[in-house]
Amino acid sequence: MQRKILNSNQYSRGIAEFYDLITNSGYYDYEGLVQIIESILGDRRKVLEIGIGTGNVAIPLAKHGFDVDGIDPSWPMLTIAREKANKEGLQIGLYPQDCLELDLPCKYDAVLSHGGAVICIRGRDGLVFESYLPTLEQNYKALQNVFHHLNGNGLFIVNIQKEHDSQATLQLGDNLHYSSSVEYSNSLVKKTHYVTREEEILMEQTFEIRRFDRKAIDDVLKQIGFSVLGEDETGSFYVLGVID
Ligand SMILES: C[S@@+](CC[C@H](N)C(=O)[O-])C[C@H]1O[C@@H](n2cnc3c(N)ncnc32)[C@H](O)[C@@H]1O
Repeated sequence: MQRKILNSNQYSRGIAEFYDLITNSGYYDYEGLVQIIESILGDRRKVLEIGIGTGNVAIPLAKHGFDVDGIDPSWPMLTIAREKANKEGLQIGLYPQDCLELDLPCKYDAVLSHGGAVICIRGRDGLVFESYLPTLEQNYKALQNVFHHLNGNGLFIVNIQKEHDSQATLQLGDNLHYSSSVEYSNSLVKKTHYVTREEEILMEQTFEIRRFDRKAIDDVLKQIGFSVLGEDETGSFYVLGVID
């Protein structure tokens, strides 16, 4: 029997409840990101976001006329995305799936990963790849799943972020305070997010993120059949293509 490999970095109800407050208080610039994504997409319309979270990227894309679906293994994050999409009257297909087991009935013109499932980090020595999936074997499987969900001439668009800020803090209003701590140990990054009010910790969650060097991932991507198109002109996304 094939061993079932699951991702244990689940976004809990606790972090989901504070997620939008944190990310919309300066953690990400979604407006700017969506404009860049639109220019990368060109005339591609059907987009799948892996790690859609609460829909902060997918919802503005859908508002701009893109046909967007998303997967995420976290029910608390998906529940918030559903509420937000319904409020805006948007039809976004939301599927409770891990990218390791991605299996949808249709193909897409582009697959997007922003801030989550897999990302690139611009480190001191260039780009590295980070994933919530701990092994190269699992990442191979997840990237292969992405490839199989892309149409010919499709794009896989992976967000490039700056190195984790080990001293990040944000004021969230109402006396709420966000901070994070980061520990590095070989290829493992342990990132803990906190929300506090005065001395009280209201939310604390640690994620274990695995770092892979870019060459190892580029080799995997090429073996799968992707062509590496490189960074977009703003340096915000790493773009992989499927050649017809
Ligand atoms: C930092 S959030 C990003 C959410 C959204 N993309 C955004 O930009 O606001 C990361 C998301 O990735 C999801 N995630 C983590 N591991 C995943 C996996 N293996 N497959 C799909 N999604 C995953 C988490 O549940 C979480 O919702």
